[in-house]
Amino acid sequence: MENFKKIGVLTSGGDAPGMNAAIRAIVRSALDRGVEVVGIYDGYRGMIEDNMKLLGSGDVTNIISRGGTVLYSARCDEFRYEEGMQKAIANCRKHGIDGVIAIGGDGTFRGATDLSNRGLPTIGVPGSIDNDITASDYSVGFDTAMNTVVDMCDRLRDTCESHARCNVIEVMGRTAGHIALRAGIASGASAVCINELPFDEEACMQRLIAEKESGKHSFLVFVAEGNGDFGEQLTKRIEERTGIETRFARLGHVQRGGIPTLEDRFTATQMGAKAVECLLAGQSNVVVCKRGNDIVTYDINYAQNIDRMYKHKLSDEQIAALDPAVRAEMEAFCKMRLDQITELYNLAYEVAR
Ligand code: F6P
Repeated sequence: MENFKKIGVLTSGGDAPGMNAAIRAIVRSALDRGVEVVGIYDGYRGMIEDNMKLLGSGDVTNIISRGGTVLYSARCDEFRYEEGMQKAIANCRKHGIDGVIAIGGDGTFRGATDLSNRGLPTIGVPGSIDNDITASDYSVGFDTAMNTVVDMCDRLRDTCESHARCNVIEVMGRTAGHIALRAGIASGASAVCINELPFDEEACMQRLIAEKESGKHSFLVFVAEGNGDFGEQLTKRIEERTGIETRFARLGHVQRGGIPTLEDRFTATQMGAKAVECLLAGQSNVVVCKRGNDIVTYDINYAQNIDRMYKHKLSDEQIAALDPAVRAEMEAFCKMRLDQITELYNLAYEVAR
C-alpha cells in the first residue's frame, strides 16, 4: 500500500447505470486510505489524449443516483496498438498514476490486461447492462436495465390489451439472453427467444393460438438481440400464423439510461471498494466478481477464458492446451452458467402456460 499514492479510474465500452456509484466508491475508498484518484475521461482514449483530472470527494457528491458515467465512455481503436498503449502509459506515469481501475465489459478488461502486462497494475470492475461477464454472477447496470424493460413492457401490455394485439419486443444483451429471460418472466411473456438455447417457433405459435382461444387479449413475445432482423420476421410470421395483430418494438438504448436501482448502486459500491482494496494490496490483472453474496476476484485471463469457453470462442487447440485440472474447472463453471439459463428458460415457459 505504501507504494500507491495515486490511482486512476476510467469507464469504457457501453455505459451502464451504476457506473457512477462505482466511481464514487473508488474515489471515496481511496481517499479514505490516503490515496489520490485521477479521473480518466473518455475511457482509454482519455489516457492516450491525456484527458485526466484529479478528483476530490466533492466531485463525486450526489452522483450515486445518476445514470450514465460522469467520466464519459468511448471505444478506442488506437489503444489496440502498441504505440497507443505506450502513449497511454506515459501519460499515466506523467500524472504519477500507480495503478488503474477500469469499469466496463469484455473489451475494457482486455485493455486492463494490456496495461497490467506493461507494468501498470490494473483491475477490472464489471459494468454492463448485459450481465455477460461469465465469471461474475452480476455486472453493474443489469438490474436497472431489466427494470426499465419491465416498465416499458407493462406499457406495451396496456395497449396490447386494449387492441387485442401481440407485441414482439427485442431487448439488448449483445449475445446474452439474461435481460430477455428475466424481464420476460417478470412481464408475463408468452414466449422468450434467446441465443443460448434453441427456439421452438412452432411451439410458440401453438401457445399463442391456445392463449387466444382461451380468451386472452394481449401477448408479449421477447427476443434477445443478436439475430439480425429475426424479431421483425417473427412479428410477421406470428400475425400470419395466429391471426393476432402483431407489432414489433426494439427497445434500444433507452435500456442503458436511467436512475440506477438500489441493487446497482449497492453492488457498484461493493465492487468499487473491493477494487481499491485489491489494487492497494498489490493485486493486478484481476477482475472483481460477484459469486453468491461474496465479492471476489479472478485473474482476468482466467475470467476471459471462461467467457470464451462459454461463448464457444475457444478453438479446440486452445482447449487442448489448457491444464487438465483448470480445463475441468472451467467446463464445470460453464455448465453451471448454462444450467442457470436453462432453469430460467424452463421457468419462463412453465409460467406462461
Ligand atoms: O453492451 C451493452 C450494449 O448496450 C449491448 O446490449 C448492445 O448490443 C451494445 O451495447 C450496443 O452498443 P452501442 O452503444 O455501440 O450501439
